[in-house]
Amino acid sequence: MGSLRLALASLLVLGACSVGEVPIGGGNPDANNSAGAASFQSMIVPLVTECIGCHGAATPPNLTSFDTLAAKYKTGPGASNILVTKGTLGIPSGTHQGINYFTTEEQAIVAAWIDSL
Ligand code: HEC
Repeated sequence: MGSLRLALASLLVLGACSVGEVPIGGGNPDANNSAGAASFQSMIVPLVTECIGCHGAATPPNLTSFDTLAAKYKTGPGASNILVTKGTLGIPSGTHQGINYFTTEEQAIVAAWIDSL
């Protein structure tokens, strides 16, 4: 009986883990989902204030909102998405169009955000 309880308990724990891995956007970066819009507001908006002047309309990525940001910038794996790696292509490395690109910490946040969609 004790071992049955233990087995049931571990099943519950495993079940809880896999629930946590369900992508908030259902894995579809094009989904018009409010969770993606909310996490864009909290995680991305604070990092892109310097970018909006150039990336608010015609020049992709359009960083004004979750919906205007094209799917290619929301498609994982986050760590290799151009939105995260663009600074490595700059001269000098870490810069882009005359500004400092995302720091290592900011890159990790953006990558984690993309992977959460
Ligand atoms: C002074 C204007 C300017 C600023 C500021 C700027 N960008 Fe850009 N960005 C551009 C231009 C122009 C391009 C296209 C040429 C190039 O790739 O450099 C571009 C290209 C990009 C690309 C590549 C798009 C693709 O699909 O290949 C990314 C990603 C990007 N910018 C992100 C950002 C982010 C994030 C910021 C803020 C940290 C930022 N940019 C700030 C002008 C700017």
